[in-house]
Amino acid sequence: MARKTVLDLQSMKASNQRIAMVTAYDATMGRLVDAAGVDMVLVGDSLGMVVQGGENTLAVTLDEMIYHGRCVARAVQNAHLTVDLPFMSYQISPAQALGAAGRVIKESGCQSVKLEGGARSAPAIQAIVEAGVPVVGHVGLTPQSVHGLSGFRVQGRGQDAAARLIEDALAVQEAGAFCIVLEMVPAELAAELTAQLHIPTIGIGAGAGCDGQVLVANDLLGLDSRFKPRFVQRFAELERPIIDAVSAYVVAVREGSFPAEVHSFHDKRGPAVLARVY
Ligand code: KIV
Repeated sequence: MARKTVLDLQSMKASNQRIAMVTAYDATMGRLVDAAGVDMVLVGDSLGMVVQGGENTLAVTLDEMIYHGRCVARAVQNAHLTVDLPFMSYQISPAQALGAAGRVIKESGCQSVKLEGGARSAPAIQAIVEAGVPVVGHVGLTPQSVHGLSGFRVQGRGQDAAARLIEDALAVQEAGAFCIVLEMVPAELAAELTAQLHIPTIGIGAGAGCDGQVLVANDLLGLDSRFKPRFVQRFAELERPIIDAVSAYVVAVREGSFPAEVHSFHDKRGPAVLARVY
């Protein structure tokens, strides 16, 4: 199977085929989600929370995104692979954004970059796209602005906020982004944006009217029972089976039933020789 290209993804919108996107932060998860047939894999800066245990994404560095991008890129063969530009790697100037995107693409092996923000990020998006690097936009709840937004909350509610969000999404499209993530926006607004934009919309907490959906892999797999926001559906509950499996291992080690004979290697030289060797 050939890797999904920007053109493939855009023609999915044209032919009303929904796009399935999921995050991955390492080669193992990259291999698994690719085998499951997702269209896009996102090396999201949500790794700052999911992998690093932070309370938000702000501390993630460009080097860390490149490292995780490279890990995932080694395993993903079919899906289009995009990687987040982290906080403060693109906000200062279009030149800074271009430098960050260039490093990510050269050093990670991913095919596109994602960055947050609407009209204010348009010059950065344009500079990156003009250099030949595809860009995924991201509006609505933009987690890198968590403090400015007073928390992880729904965006675009009410007439003025909705109008601003539409302007932002149009600016991202105008700047050359090839698709756009809509995070935590009312379903009606996301459906309206999906109708207005010619680029695909990928929703998370944005209802069923988007051209595609994205979820954090750990959330859809149910790896953390403490985290269950309204917009997540767990397609499996893997936390308990993992804890149970590791508990069984702990018991087996303690009682001496692991390793068994079948897991062991032997020196076939015979007891007389070995008594002299050891
Ligand atoms: O970082 C991330 O995982 C994201 C998705 C949740 C859209 O930006």
